[in-house]
Amino acid sequence: MDLSAIEKDIERVIISEEKLQTRLKEIARQIEADYEGQDLLLIGVLKGAVMVMADLSRHINRHVEIDWMAVSSYGSGTNSSGVVRILKDLDRDITGRNVLIVEDIVDTGLTLDWLRTNLESRGAKSVEIMTVLRKPDSAIVRVDVRYVGFDIPKDFVIGYGLDFNEKYRNLPFIAVLAKHMYE
Ligand code: IMP
Ligand code: MG
Repeated sequence: MDLSAIEKDIERVIISEEKLQTRLKEIARQIEADYEGQDLLLIGVLKGAVMVMADLSRHINRHVEIDWMAVSSYGSGTNSSGVVRILKDLDRDITGRNVLIVEDIVDTGLTLDWLRTNLESRGAKSVEIMTVLRKPDSAIVRVDVRYVGFDIPKDFVIGYGLDFNEKYRNLPFIAVLAKHMYE
């Protein structure tokens, strides 16, 4: 991707496209081993998980099913509140299914904590989580995440599904947003 159009908006690239894809392939191998002989349903959280779902699922060499949810956190601006509203629910029943939630980022952990509890209450056989990024220093609740791409500092990041005011989701890498963009 030609960086010149967005160069001034970013502080620095922290995870290159190549590093991302290499890590996703490693995680795909782990998933294949962990779910060997068992059914697997990937559930992506819109819209941030679109990129990772497209890439991760294509790295997994076995049958998977894919479904989507859209949730919104009742909170002001960039603050998560933990109170979550379902904007788009799953298309199918998940009773007895092995569910793997596919996410872009675990920040406070509030959204995923709520989502896991919600999916477990529907009778899923197992509910695990895969996330591209995790910010350990932002955690409000501890969420047990089975597959983590990268642990990163608290900085606001964009790209690879992650947005700032709905932009930058299409960047193939992850970058720290320049401070002047929001201060
Ligand atoms: P939570 O705080 O773990 O509940 O995360 C809620 C949501 O906030 C994530 O799914 C992202 O959509 C968004 N988010 C958190 N940190 C960032 C960031 O650094 N860049 C872009 N979006 C973020
Ligand atoms: Mg998200």
